[in-house]
Amino acid sequence: MKGIVLAGGKGTRLHPLTLSVSKQLLPIYDKPMIYYPLATLIAAGIHEILIISTPEDLPLFQRLLGDGAAWGCSFSYAEQQTPKGLAEAFIIGETFIKNENVALILGDNLFHGSKQLKQFATNDHFVGGQIFAYRVKDPQRYGVVEFDENQKVIGLEEKPEQPKSSFAVPGLYLYDGTVVEKAKQLKPSKRGELEITEINQHYLNAGTLTVHPLELGATWLDTGTIESLIEASQYVQAIQSRQGVLVGSPEIAAYQSGAISKKELQQLAFQQKESEYGKAINAFVAR
Ligand code: TTP
Repeated sequence: MKGIVLAGGKGTRLHPLTLSVSKQLLPIYDKPMIYYPLATLIAAGIHEILIISTPEDLPLFQRLLGDGAAWGCSFSYAEQQTPKGLAEAFIIGETFIKNENVALILGDNLFHGSKQLKQFATNDHFVGGQIFAYRVKDPQRYGVVEFDENQKVIGLEEKPEQPKSSFAVPGLYLYDGTVVEKAKQLKPSKRGELEITEINQHYLNAGTLTVHPLELGATWLDTGTIESLIEASQYVQAIQSRQGVLVGSPEIAAYQSGAISKKELQQLAFQQKESEYGKAINAFVAR
């Protein structure tokens, strides 16, 4: 399975923080935001990754992440000229996807403690669309899933004023290669975007959408508002200082998923030995 990190957008809810810096480069505690979704993909064994951002910000991501070789991965880059919606990622990524299965993750979404992505991404019998559901207090901010009494999905709605359930769809979507054609057929919605909810609706209509509730104990945070940004930092700080293990480290994810050796991980730690982050990787190697 291939991976796409969508890291463009306007970040208007974080102004003035994001007037001159991309949201996904802002810190979440001790690392840039984009490290978290990247680590999620890499930990799932997805090592071929396309990073999409705005023409202004893309060079900064290239400077930060390079070609991915140091992490045993292959990173490529593509511009989104204007934020025309999440589903445009599949049109921009068409030549990268090449009809293969693909995972899209939003650059401002943080997942922790879920084993499901790996399980689904490495499933040889992967079919259709597979998305997740997570109970939240404010579902109207998200795509919302409606289940019947047998936990079967019966509807999807984008940012509904009157949500039919508390289950939001997190920003991590797995699709087969037909997603590109589905994206190309979309028309802009009332808010002028190519909606991922409509892609999911296509799969649902075809009977090939599976919605997995995120397992108990897994955490999903999005970091698009100032409150959620600071809460995500506090969450990472709390887990890391309690457990002494880094959350959202692409280097450790690369090692754990077999992309790099222990020696290579040690070298990556050494290159950053002055920072707490580098020291924490080193402590992981020495465990
Ligand atoms: P949003 O948080 O919905 O949008 P935004 O980042 O522009 O923020 P704001 O609402 O404050 O203006 O986007 C979710 C993620 O998807 C985020 O990581 C940005 C990314 N994104 C794109 O890269 N391109 C797009 O066209 C859209 C809509 C979002």
